[in-house]
Amino acid sequence: MKLIVAIIRPHQLPAVKKALYEAQVYAMTVTNAMGSGVGERYEETFRGVRHEVTLIKKLRLEIAVNEDFVDVTLDALIRGAKTGEPGDGKIFVLELPECIRIRTEERGPRAIS
Ligand SMILES: Nc1ncnc2c1ncn2[C@@H]1O[C@H](COP(=O)(O)OP(=O)(O)OP(=O)(O)O)[C@@H](O)[C@H]1O
Ligand SMILES: [Mg+2]
Repeated sequence: MKLIVAIIRPHQLPAVKKALYEAQVYAMTVTNAMGSGVGERYEETFRGVRHEVTLIKKLRLEIAVNEDFVDVTLDALIRGAKTGEPGDGKIFVLELPECIRIRTEERGPRAIS
């Protein structure tokens, strides 16, 4: 099992969701996040004062998948989130040692989907 964590542009969420649904990936957690990648520092003036802005609104998607769904999930995330411009985001793939469906107490791959 893997936990796929993707940081994406908020505007890309509809396209990402569409791509994930097409890949038959329906279960996910989405949270608001703030982030800074390479080259995302810029300056903004607020009430006459210059501020260095280093954190930009992003969305964090967490998707737990079984091994046979890793590649299709990654492909869908890239297809939905990519504009080709700097700041498109990052995907992290983590080993997931355990998953438990609380209702049934199933564990492991059976509990994921
Ligand atoms: N190394 C990292 N660790 C943790 N979060 C990161 C990392 N790199 C990027 N992120 C997250 O992803 C968001 C988008 O990053 P971004 O797409 O700008 O990455 P990048 O490496 O600068 O690529 P690009 O050259 O396309 O801009 C960041 O705002 C941050 O939330
Ligand atoms: Mg960047």
